Amino acid sequence: MAYSEKVLDHYENPRNVGKFDDSADEIGTGMVGAPACGDVMRLQIKVNEQGIIEDAKFKTYGCGSAIASSSLLTEWVKGKTLDEAAQIKNTEIAQELALPPVKIHCSVLAEDAIKAAVADYRQKRTVS
Ligand code: FES
Ligand code: FES
Repeated sequence: MAYSEKVLDHYENPRNVGKFDDSADEIGTGMVGAPACGDVMRLQIKVNEQGIIEDAKFKTYGCGSAIASSSLLTEWVKGKTLDEAAQIKNTEIAQELALPPVKIHCSVLAEDAIKAAVADYRQKRTVS
């Protein structure tokens, strides 16, 4: 299948690949899988005292569209509040990357991952 230029760009030069130490309490981790294909995405956010996402990293074991979706997402969430980040819609990602219908679930994975990362961060904060 043909990938869009933006997908290829993120796929060949993924932004913010990596990992934060999950035990640090300024880190939120979202780990999600796509039932449709078995691909897995780990997205992590680093949040400052003002509740702003300072940094984000991802690792995606999956297709080019999933890698591009998570790469794009790490760029988008930087500088956002937790609420703003949790409101990012997969449709915005799919539109930006010009994903074809069969690849929409790859962007859903990215939306699920950021929501899970925000939830994980919040849960850590209430427990500790
Ligand atoms: Fe092929 Fe997801 S279905 S990598
Ligand atoms: Fe399943 Fe892309 S094909 S995440």
